[in-house]
Amino acid sequence: MQLRVHYLPESVAAEPESLATDQVEHGTAVVIDVLRATTTIVHALGAGARAVIPCLTIEDARAAAGALPSNGVVLGGERGGRSIEGFDLGNSPAEYVPRIVAGKTIVLTTTNGTKALLQCAGSERILMGSFVNLSALCSVLAGRQNVDLVCAGTDGQITREDVLVAGAIVDRLTVEPSSTEPEWELNGEAWAARDAWLAVVTGATDGELTARLIEAMRASRGGENLIAIGMSGDIELAAQIDRFTIVPRFDPVSGRIEADPAPGHMA
Ligand code: MLT
Repeated sequence: MQLRVHYLPESVAAEPESLATDQVEHGTAVVIDVLRATTTIVHALGAGARAVIPCLTIEDARAAAGALPSNGVVLGGERGGRSIEGFDLGNSPAEYVPRIVAGKTIVLTTTNGTKALLQCAGSERILMGSFVNLSALCSVLAGRQNVDLVCAGTDGQITREDVLVAGAIVDRLTVEPSSTEPEWELNGEAWAARDAWLAVVTGATDGELTARLIEAMRASRGGENLIAIGMSGDIELAAQIDRFTIVPRFDPVSGRIEADPAPGHMA
């Protein structure tokens, strides 16, 4: 069982063996853009959106939204962290509430998150990772064979906040290996991500955990970008571990992300 972390989506493409045919068949990719695309997607589906359609460009997003009945679609996204002119919503998880998104299809374009997602389209199963769905995601991953955790980064640069989510997943999956299953084989980035996570959380009581996480994310590249544009509240939302029990899954054929209920959890 292989558990690999990729600090940037480009490293998935640069390692053909990580997406070799036999592994694609059985492989699961988890896209992580905790500030904020994957957190926002979990919020949107958790608030009752029917699906999220990720688009690479603003033009693609406008066209995808235009092809759907106007009373059933919400157009969201960001460039430079800010809302896009003419769009209904930005990329803040706080905006994706039931009153606005329940029963709607969200068409979403973000700078790095949607790009990373579309780059993983060759994997058999593509899931979204964040702190707000950490346990639900890990319960799905626990039964898988080959898992690639793909951090979105920012404009080709590694971002610590995504590495921390990857580290939290690695830690959860490796801390109590099942006695009936072989242990995970980790790549170097998986070990390092786990170390980064443990450096933040070791010794924290349950009450201190969120505060430590917020502090670490505020000091990260994505956190600094959000603080600079007055959106630091989104960091606090992104640090709410297990607020949701859904696992968003992207189907490259339909181009839609829908919620997979986690085993043993209510959606
Ligand atoms: C992205 O996809 O680049 C991010 O989610 C950026 C953001 O939310 O500002």
